[in-house]
Amino acid sequence: MRDITSEEDVKLFIDAFYEKVKADAKIGYIFNEVADLNWEEHMPKIYRFWESILLGKPGFQGDVMGVHIRLNKKEKLTSDHFDKWIALFTETVREMYDGSVANEAINRANIIRRTMEYNILQSR
Ligand code: HEM
Repeated sequence: MRDITSEEDVKLFIDAFYEKVKADAKIGYIFNEVADLNWEEHMPKIYRFWESILLGKPGFQGDVMGVHIRLNKKEKLTSDHFDKWIALFTETVREMYDGSVANEAINRANIIRRTMEYNILQSR
């Protein structure tokens, strides 16, 4: 297995991750029903987010913490939800890639998750 090195690599693992998320019994409904997403707008934002973190590519503009604080007001996001998100993310990256950038993806996801959960608790 090789490492994540390109925008195409990011797109491939994010698409695979979202297939798992949408089909998941615990968190799928938040994406499929609660958020009422326009997928054509949502997916490019997620690609840009991870391209900026993993490849240093400029161009992500978003309010990641604000988005989840607002989402939590519609549907309470629990530690169980976050555990499942991280488990699916980790599983997807591990299935597809191996190397320092793949490890960095998993590390950063965990760090952001902790910040996000903390911000959500503070906003309650
Ligand atoms: C329980 C865990 C999570 C759930 C259920 C969740 C769900 C969602 C949903 C439904 C949206 C779209 C919101 C909207 O546009 O109205 C969203 C956006 C997003 N999420 Fe999450 N999320 C979770 C955790 C995370 C984590 C841990 C990260 C990063 C490591 C992350 C990164 C993002 C990004 C980058 C966006 C796009 C922000 C933007 O539109 O500017 N999410 N999330």
